[in-house]
Amino acid sequence: MKYEVLTMLNHTDKYLSGETISKKLGVSRTAIWKHINSLRNEGYKILSVTNKGYLLEKEHLPLTNYQVLQSYEGKTKLYFFNEVNSTNTKAKEIANDITADKALVYSKIQHQGRGRLGRTFQSNNQAGLWLSYVYKPIIPPEKATIFTLAASVAVCKLLENTCHVDAKIKWPNDIIIKGKKLCGILTEMSCEMDKINYIVVGIGLNVNQLSFDDNIRNIATSLYLETGQKYDRGLLIGGLCYNMDYVYEQIICNKISDIIDEWKKYALPMGQMITIHKGKEQIQATTIDINNSGHLMVKEANGQVNTYQSGEISIRGIMGYS
Ligand code: BTN
Repeated sequence: MKYEVLTMLNHTDKYLSGETISKKLGVSRTAIWKHINSLRNEGYKILSVTNKGYLLEKEHLPLTNYQVLQSYEGKTKLYFFNEVNSTNTKAKEIANDITADKALVYSKIQHQGRGRLGRTFQSNNQAGLWLSYVYKPIIPPEKATIFTLAASVAVCKLLENTCHVDAKIKWPNDIIIKGKKLCGILTEMSCEMDKINYIVVGIGLNVNQLSFDDNIRNIATSLYLETGQKYDRGLLIGGLCYNMDYVYEQIICNKISDIIDEWKKYALPMGQMITIHKGKEQIQATTIDINNSGHLMVKEANGQVNTYQSGEISIRGIMGYS
């Protein structure tokens, strides 16, 4: 019933009186008032004015399952949390218990977000999207790297189509706008020699942040900072779920080259001079391409052509390849 009240408020830009809502839903005005308060506790901002009624502020929608289900009716099983340490860690726990071949874990706030190569990922706020997809595909473990590339394509499509933002992928999985990071992706896997138990694709997207801590201010950005607009995170998750469903289907149907072609469309151009950080070693190189497994091919300063996997290196640009 609470969500029927919400749906009514959601479908109008005008005040709705308690009487109108109670008549429509066939319950008392006191019951409506209780539902309104319960929705406020979930984070919905609902104005109330005597003799006018209730008005939902649509610019400040909280992240709830209801918001996601407004825009996604697909088969991904949803697991929503108010707070977690890391959605990737939570997703791994859930992966062991479920039989479904795809699920999504998302949380309002993350206290210990994890990044690639053992780094931390700043996400202890309620402004971003912190979420992890769980998949149980029947494909050989060596093909799993495609999930990271596929997820970055899914995010870029969402940014292009829903937010009208021109974002680029920095190999393997950073999504950047004008040299600043908007989104990071962390893929983790549990597997046997010839069988994947599960893959977790964690995505952290900066959405409504107004600013960042000093230590990352020069390298991080948010959708709000780029567009001046606040976004309904539930709506973004819904759109992302459809895009992830699409690329997952491509992976299952072995349409890997289609994903790589799309990835290249969104990627920063190749032929850039970069510094490869491999443990303590630093290697100067020029990017050439990515191969059919999603590994980066580079020509190193000594003329040698080498291929690197995403888990072993990070890269820094010399000429604007941030
Ligand atoms: C990176 O840029 O190094 C990867 C960052 C990945 C962050 C996301 S946020 C949701 C999910 N949970 C985590 O702990 N990490 C990923």
